[in-house]
This record gives sequence, structure tokens and C-alpha cells, in this order.
Amino acid sequence: MSSYVFEKIAPQTDMHVICVHAEEKNSALSEMLHRLIKQHEFKAESDDILIHQTPDETILLLGVGTPKTIYDFEKIGAAVFKNTQKWKEGKISVAIPEVNNPDQLAAVMSGLALRDWRFDSLKTKTKKPVKNHDYVIVVKDPAEATKAYAVFDAMVQGNQATREVVSLPPNMIYPESYAHRIRDELTPLGVKVTLIDQKKLKELGCNGILAVGEGSEKDSYLVILEYSNGPANQDPLAFVGKGVTFDTGGISIKPSAHMDDMKYDMAGSGVVYGLFKTLALRKAKVNVIGALALVENMPSGSAYRPADVITSYSGQTIEVLNTDAEGRVVLADALWYVQKHFKPQLIIDLATLTGAMTVALGSEFAGIFSDDDELVAQLIEASNFVEEKLWRMPLHKAFDKDIDSTVADVQNTGTGRGAGSSTAAHFLKRFVKDDMKWAHLDIAGVAWDTKGRDLFEKGATGFGVRMLNRFIEKILEK
Ligand code: BES
Ligand code: ZN
Ligand code: ZN
Repeated sequence: MSSYVFEKIAPQTDMHVICVHAEEKNSALSEMLHRLIKQHEFKAESDDILIHQTPDETILLLGVGTPKTIYDFEKIGAAVFKNTQKWKEGKISVAIPEVNNPDQLAAVMSGLALRDWRFDSLKTKTKKPVKNHDYVIVVKDPAEATKAYAVFDAMVQGNQATREVVSLPPNMIYPESYAHRIRDELTPLGVKVTLIDQKKLKELGCNGILAVGEGSEKDSYLVILEYSNGPANQDPLAFVGKGVTFDTGGISIKPSAHMDDMKYDMAGSGVVYGLFKTLALRKAKVNVIGALALVENMPSGSAYRPADVITSYSGQTIEVLNTDAEGRVVLADALWYVQKHFKPQLIIDLATLTGAMTVALGSEFAGIFSDDDELVAQLIEASNFVEEKLWRMPLHKAFDKDIDSTVADVQNTGTGRGAGSSTAAHFLKRFVKDDMKWAHLDIAGVAWDTKGRDLFEKGATGFGVRMLNRFIEKILEK
């Protein structure tokens, strides 16, 4: 990992990045740049990049357009990181002349740090060479920028914690090891972590979680997180995450091509974990609870079957028509748990729930399902702010009717092939009380990226941590 600091005086170094933005056209700085370009020989690498490179000195002029939003400034940081990767290891001075807003400067550092993460801990031979630079961002008021960055740093660390657990292979992260990791990481930060193990799940009657985990050698867990740092009279926000550490489909087994993707079927729970890390690190003055349903969905002689009927924790009976529609079955119990044991003011669940979501929205948007217009608007606002984009999808009584079972209260798939994401959302809705504010985020298409994005290399994105952190900041803390 590289290091990042803000300093007032440009460091003694032979490597420089100057971020040139359109705002400065007629300024004194523009004159200085012209002088610089005249004095040194610059070579155009692309439309946005001029580079002067001699054995003694490297100067990069990085055109960054007209940055306006915090995300634009994060993109600048990520671009600085990308464009300095081939340089020799050492100190790099980074200037963004005439930008003095501490949040904008902190966002540049956040972009650098977010981009500076990869999952290569399991490679022993062919690690992609990474240059660990010491980045010095030269600013007028380092103390102010450093203070602003503390909040971003918590978000960066939460996002990276999510990406780490989502990237780990299913033999290394399974319900028990995952539950222990969550407990060991979050307890020291002041989060109360309760592990509900298989024995306790049986006593409680969480038969949805138990049924899905039945075919696996690994024990299932429900992990409850409580972070209470807000006003005593503030009802908590609840976040519920799907944590299927591997989804083979079970007896309704998936085709073998791309089955390996299903290691990220625990991404919803990974986001809840990363979000709590962020909130605790930045000591957010809020009350939040989390419920993470951790199971492995395997086929075996003890696995649950299509046609089984399960009595869920809520008491409602579920007819299993497809063992691959397992996420909703475990979430049913987790959703009920938070309503029975706490008094949340709202519930947001996150799940890589349906392949149909990817068909509808690809990897650009996650789907949001909710009857609450205000909550949808607040979440979409937050999602646009951090560029983790949401698109509203329909709930409708026709989809609800489609999951009426002939033998039980509800069945775990729709009758036809259509609207798979909406019928899945309606299944969850059956386990949310009528007066409860609730939104379901289907992150199946966005949890893992195959191309790479502005701020991330390809792989786990941590989609949701930055958005929910912003949402909480906006609705509870301002
Ligand atoms: N984990 C999958 C959904 C998924 C697919 C997530 C692709 C990420 C990428 C989920 O458990 C599942 O298998 N859903 C089925 C439901 C169907 C059987 C009703 C699906 O989407 O095909
Ligand atoms: Zn499945
Ligand atoms: Zn699944």
C-alpha cells in the first residue's frame, strides 16, 4: 500500500503530478503552466496527459476537466494513482492548484486510496507488480484537509473490508469463519456482535436459515450487529444482508459454467459488515442494527428439497419450489428477527438475490424495491452522490399473487419465468410488517465488476457501503 499525506510545502522529489483543471484558464497559474511547458519538453500521451520525463525528473500534467462533485475529485485521485503506477517507487508530489475546499481535497485522497486496493494475498508467484509510492498532496491548509479526510478514510476502510470478504474463496470464508471475522473485527470498534449459532437457531425456529444450510457440512449462523452511538430516543436503522458464502443452487443445482461466481453471493452481508466498520470508525452518532444470514447452499443427502415446506421464524409456511431461490428464504428469517427483537424505524436489505436483476440492469444499476417514495428518493439521492447508482423497480399486487402457494402460505419462486426480481422482492415483503418502512436492494449485477470502474479495479466493488454511509449521514446526522 502506498502512503498519502497532505503537506503545505512541496516535498523534495523528482516526481510531480499537476492536476490541470479548466477553471484555471486565465489565472496566474495558467501562466506558470505555460512557462513550465516552454521550459521542459512535454510529450502528449493522450488528450489529457502531457508528460516530461528525463532520467532526473518526471512531471505529469494531468488534465482533469472541470471537476464539480465530490465524485469528480475522487476520480482525480484514482487517475493520479493509475498514471503513476509505472513510475519508480518513491515520493510523488501531487498538486491540484487553486483547489482549497477540504472536502474536495480529501476526496482526491479517497480516490487514490480506493484505487490502491487489490486482492492478491493468495498469489505467491505472479503478483502484479504494485508500486508503493509516498504521495504528498500539496495544499494550503494540511490540518483542515487531514481532518476532512478522517471521514473519508472510514468509508475507504469499510469499502475495502467489504471487498476483502467478497473476494475470499468459499473454502476460506464460510459461515463460521466469516462470523468470527466479523466479531473479531467489529467488537474492538465498539460494535456489539452476537453470533446466533445453529443450536440457537433451532431453539428460535429459524427454519428458513436452517433449511438452506442443511445440505452443507458447515454450520449456519445469524450474526446480529448493534452500534448504539446515537440519541437514546432514536429508533435504530436496520440493515439486513444475504450471506450465502457459496451458492451451488443446492438440489436445483446450477450449471457448472460460472458457478464460481457464486462465491460473491454473500456480498449483501459483506456490505452490512463494511458499513458498520465505516460507521464505527468515524464514530457516527447513530443507532444501527445489522442482521447477516450466513449459510452455504449445497446439494447432498441432507439437503433441503424442492417441494419441502418450511415453517419460517415468522410462523408463515414456505413451499420450496427451487432450492436455488435460497437467498429469500434465509432473508425471511433475518427480516423477521430484526422486527421481533428490535424496533427499527426502517429496514434496508441488500442481496445478490436474482440473476434477473443482472438481465434488467446489468452492472450499471442496482434495483431498489420499496413502496415508500421518500425512502426511495433519499436512497437514490445518496446513490447518485457516490455513483453507486440505483434504479427503482416495481412492486405490484400481481407479483405478490404469483407467489401464493397451493400447499403453504407462500412459495419461493413465481409461477412463470417473468419478473423474477419483482417476485423475489414480494417474497421478502411477505416477511415485512405492513407499517414498516422498508427497501430491498438487489445488488446481483453490481457486487462484482468484470471490467473495472473509475475507482476500482475489476472484482469486488463493495457497492453499497459508500451509498448507505452517505444516506445515513444525510438523514440522521445533518
Ligand atoms: N445467487 C443467485 C442470484 C445471482 C445470480 C446473483 C447471478 C448474482 C449473479 C440466487 O440465489 C439465484 O440463484 N436465484 C435464482 C432464482 C430462481 C431459481 C427463481 C435465479 O436468479 O436464477
Ligand atoms: Zn441461488
Ligand atoms: Zn444465491
